[in-house]
Amino acid sequence: MCGIVGYIGNKNSKEILLEGLKELEYRGYDSAGIAVLQNGKFDNFKAVGKLINLEEKTKNFITDKFSVGIGHTRWATHGKPTELNAHPHVGESSYVVHNGIIENYATLKKELQEIGVNFLSQTDTEVIVHQFEKNLRELQNAFQAFEKTVSELQGAYAILLVTKDEPERIFFAKHGSPMLVGINEENEKYFASSDTPLIGHCKEVNYFEDGEYGYVTPQEIKIYGKDTKKRKTHFTKLSTNKLSSQKDGYRFFMEKEIYEQSTVIADTLLGRLGVDEVVFDELDTSLFNGINEIKLCACGTSYHAALCASYMFERYTKIKTSVEVASEFRYRSPIMTKDTLFVVISQSGETADTLETLKMAKEADLKTLVICNVDNSSMVRLADASILTRAGVEKGVASTKAFATQVSVFWMLSLYIAGLRSSMSKEDIAYQISLLREVPASVKVTDTTHERIKRLSKRYLHGHGFFFIGRDIFYPLALEGALKLKEISYLHAEGYPSGEMKHGPIALADPELFTIALLPQHLLYEKAKSNVEELSARDSTICAISALEFDKADDFIAINECRDYMLEFFEMMVVVQLLSLEISIRLGNDVDMPRNLAKSVTVE
Ligand code: F6R
Repeated sequence: MCGIVGYIGNKNSKEILLEGLKELEYRGYDSAGIAVLQNGKFDNFKAVGKLINLEEKTKNFITDKFSVGIGHTRWATHGKPTELNAHPHVGESSYVVHNGIIENYATLKKELQEIGVNFLSQTDTEVIVHQFEKNLRELQNAFQAFEKTVSELQGAYAILLVTKDEPERIFFAKHGSPMLVGINEENEKYFASSDTPLIGHCKEVNYFEDGEYGYVTPQEIKIYGKDTKKRKTHFTKLSTNKLSSQKDGYRFFMEKEIYEQSTVIADTLLGRLGVDEVVFDELDTSLFNGINEIKLCACGTSYHAALCASYMFERYTKIKTSVEVASEFRYRSPIMTKDTLFVVISQSGETADTLETLKMAKEADLKTLVICNVDNSSMVRLADASILTRAGVEKGVASTKAFATQVSVFWMLSLYIAGLRSSMSKEDIAYQISLLREVPASVKVTDTTHERIKRLSKRYLHGHGFFFIGRDIFYPLALEGALKLKEISYLHAEGYPSGEMKHGPIALADPELFTIALLPQHLLYEKAKSNVEELSARDSTICAISALEFDKADDFIAINECRDYMLEFFEMMVVVQLLSLEISIRLGNDVDMPRNLAKSVTVE
């Protein structure tokens, strides 16, 4: 979600770090910072907001000798996007930058505070540098201190650390967040969290594996594995194409973001799942006191996530829940009662209609909560409480990973409230949590599925329209599938509850009407199946998505057999996203920037 760079060498390190950060800015732009060690002295600069602010601050800073430097561009997870929370974080004589989340930071922080360590920021990252310095005081050896620190961290991380004790080294550790090092003939070493910053500087790079840590000097690269044994370097050639590199080789950002869903959902879940309880550090339980109703309000894809939430909230929390399209809610003189928790959902946190409904709820003195992907956005600043979805920057206009993380947050939130209200047994919550833990695996795209969808897509480039149909929580997924398709293929598509067909829409059925049927094995299978059979009998062309073969379908896309319908939900979500993507690509459209659309709709 954030971006990391590092450099050892004789060139202008400030420029190298800033240029590298520029390449990574799309990953996060809440704040940025660099720390450079030259002539035994550290210089550190940080700035809130876009990189240009850091460039301005470092205008008069000159790096013209051998130096060691690290830099970071931040997408806030713990702590607001302030200068104090910006990386690099400092101890007494060391600096650290970090991507990921240190799950046990609260425990480590408490122990460090008990021995008198003073913390400047609210971040999880700061514990790393203090823990390192504590270990350094004990062991009197920087490498051993770093090794010990890494063994004490839980969670996901890519870390770079520099210290005055070893002025020609960068220490690194990688677990669950990407990081690589690049080399060239001039004995320079470049670090980054993706390969784009290294293009043009290095010809060969070593991608670190999970669990690896070590250090780099101008002369050598020392890598150790989780078992503390030495590892060999594995250098590969670096691509020379920056744009494709930003897309990590995917054809479009949307495709990359579909593939990223497994990682970002893992980030969303990180630190929030106990055995039989969900933990949201950012929420005060009093937010739910006296609440008898939940109202969800959003636009577009976020609205579909809200519809999904309504099924889970009523089922698990037993609290009456309603969902509203923000642009409608604004002007219909809605009744707002104080026992309602008002929840807005937005990827950007800036959508004008949704923001306006939040203001209305605040004026009516309702308790408010925002589920959002962008910290410090207008909605996050305004709402009483916020939960960040941690999807990272979403570049494709058609939302994919943001939706996946929104639904994941709502699933957790419904269990969190169910725990507070005792509306579910501990055993049932534990079961749901065990399912949640399987979601990152269930959204992993396999070559077989993608290839199958790619091949099938050629049959769906014409016709007079698409029906996406599903029941229960698969109905909002049907709506979302139809929205994805129309956004990027410009073909007409509608989402319907399967049971609604015979109340009108079935009149459109003929071979040129394509029905995409969501048929989960574990939720109302027989009922949904008979709705599809009705369409099939009227000669609609059917593409069934299910774990169970369906002989009335013209085409069939198999998902894995799952033990619960919610896992089927996530598997099918990926299928409908890929289907839209492949149809759009075949039609020659610009997938990432479809016509007439913008990523953030800040006007009504
Ligand atoms: C669809 C899409 C839009 C947004 C909608 C709300 O792919 O991206 O429908 O979901 O404009 O945007 P946010 O979530 O930023 O409030």
